[in-house]
Amino acid sequence: MSSPKILVIPGSARKDSFNRKLAVHTAKVVEASGGEATLLDMNAFDAPLYHGDLETEHGMPERMQLLRRLIKEHDALIVISPEYNGHVPPLLVNAFDWVSRPDGEDKANAFAGKTAAVMAASPGRLGGIRMLPRLRAFLSDLGVLCLPSQVALGTAFSAFDDGGKLTDERAAQQVETVVARLIELNR
Ligand SMILES: Cc1cc2nc3c(=O)[nH]c(=O)nc-3n(C[C@H](O)[C@H](O)[C@H](O)COP(=O)(O)O)c2cc1C
Repeated sequence: MSSPKILVIPGSARKDSFNRKLAVHTAKVVEASGGEATLLDMNAFDAPLYHGDLETEHGMPERMQLLRRLIKEHDALIVISPEYNGHVPPLLVNAFDWVSRPDGEDKANAFAGKTAAVMAASPGRLGGIRMLPRLRAFLSDLGVLCLPSQVALGTAFSAFDDGGKLTDERAAQQVETVVARLIELNR
């Protein structure tokens, strides 16, 4: 049986990010479930706000070219994002907007044929639940097939121990279920 390659993309670059902690946990679950995980640090993927003139003059920023290549090389994505005023945060929107563009002669849609799972973590009670359908719709418009199951981790400040380990058992179970489905779909 093949090991699906799964790119885990946190939507926050913050040092103590709850979404990053959930992403670290999820990447471990991917590995333990028979997949190969690549966990991104979004500090390495910052990019100027997309601007058509910038693109015409300089092309795609190198970091976005790398992100584009990584997305193409993986079978599936797990996007784990904060909710900003109900929406997908600009870090992700900007990165995915860049990646959706052709890279020189390479005009293929990097997202085409990918499958994805979406997750969110928030200190709020609802765990980013308003953002998830928007993230799902965004990915779907990029050509990605999203799993119906998802994770919305609320009160995230009490979900991890001091070492950053996920201690919320319900959330841990949900992550396992979502990861198992994504791996099954990509075998
Ligand atoms: C501009 C802004 C808007 C936010 N809007 C929401 C929101 O709509 N819902 C929510 O649950 N949390 C909201 N938050 C709080 C974030 O969930 C919180 O800052 C969280 O820690 C960010 O994710 P991170 O820990 O992964 O960096 C907002 C935070 C910022 C900075």
